[in-house]
Amino acid sequence: MKAWRIPSFGLDKMELTTLPDPQPQRGEVLVKVHAVSLNYRDLMVVVGRYNPKMHLPRIPCSDGAGEVVAIGEGVTRVKVGDRVAGIFMQNWIDGEADAKKIRGALGGDIDGVLAELVALREDGVVHVPEHLSYDEAATLPCAAVTAWNAVVHAGHVKAGDVVVVQGTGGVSMFALQFARMLGARVLGTSSSDEKLARAKTLGLDAGVNYRANPEWDAWVMEQTGGRGADLVVEVGGAGTFSRSLRAIRIGGAVAQIGVLSQSTEGLEIPLLLHRQVHLRGIYVGSRVHFEQMNRAIAQHAMKPAIDEAFSFEQAPKALQRLQDGAHFGKIIVRAGAKI
Ligand SMILES: NC(=O)c1ccc[n+]([C@@H]2O[C@H](COP(=O)([O-])OP(=O)(O)OC[C@H]3O[C@@H](n4cnc5c(N)ncnc54)[C@H](OP(=O)(O)O)[C@@H]3O)[C@@H](O)[C@H]2O)c1
Repeated sequence: MKAWRIPSFGLDKMELTTLPDPQPQRGEVLVKVHAVSLNYRDLMVVVGRYNPKMHLPRIPCSDGAGEVVAIGEGVTRVKVGDRVAGIFMQNWIDGEADAKKIRGALGGDIDGVLAELVALREDGVVHVPEHLSYDEAATLPCAAVTAWNAVVHAGHVKAGDVVVVQGTGGVSMFALQFARMLGARVLGTSSSDEKLARAKTLGLDAGVNYRANPEWDAWVMEQTGGRGADLVVEVGGAGTFSRSLRAIRIGGAVAQIGVLSQSTEGLEIPLLLHRQVHLRGIYVGSRVHFEQMNRAIAQHAMKPAIDEAFSFEQAPKALQRLQDGAHFGKIIVRAGAKI
């Protein structure tokens, strides 16, 4: 099979190689990968910022969808022909996370899915919603499950709530769609007016350009009549965190997800107290979260926002697009599935 590997860190170091086809062992399924979607984390893995001590060579990327083409002995959860996606952390099936469950992340701790074939434990896959194409289904394992966890389990979002999403990347556009699904009003930020206009077609109620108007927290207060938002889906990290605290209502929640920006300012601890903030760190989610989310996506016939699809050979170019930040929603690499 063909696979992309990182022999050493750097976008220009990625190599397209031919490896022996994996064979499904007892309890494993062999998936013919049709599509892979990119996450900011995949870029950090490739350039060596995610884990500089990562054991190399490594096949990158956590998120892929495909068809089961063979099953190992004892497999009962899936059958040949099923349409599946791998779960991000192969060991986190259900319940609260623990140190063991959060090991085994695809394209990080273990080889990922940027390959024509991948063998996964039967417990490590979910069936994907029928109305989604492989491109669309490939967007779900990391970005969508993370957004679902933030909106449903950290934010407990309900009709009438106000949710703030930052930027127009993968996680944020899923958070927008889930928050709208639950009846919330969604406010968003972006560096681009054009992207804000596009986000409105997905249900964004109002948006602000954080370059033209860096004080977006004051804008959120204006938009909410001085009350503040019920939930901020925080992907900006150090550079946005303090403003997120100022944008929420007293007793509101911050779902801390991302690390996109830096800051030299210190953390404003008194704000955490005065606002009585519910602060929750999110690390993707379990297989059960993924399955719950898939039921909601199927019931609402929800479609992920796709930016552009690249061929398998163009994988480094696709990662470059992510790095440039020109994208809206999810970038796809078609795996060109080997027969
Ligand atoms: N904790 C977890 O489990 C988890 C899971 C998934 C992702 N993440 C993290 O979440 C972040 C987003 O991931 P992603 O895959 O959605 O990324 P992505 O698709 O690359 O989206 C990034 C977008 O964020 C926006 N952005 C960049 N800097 C910003 C800033 N200072 N303030 C506001 N928005 C900003 C930009 O949107 P505009 O172009 O519209 O400005 C950019 O396009 C990353 O840090 C990633 O590592 C964490």
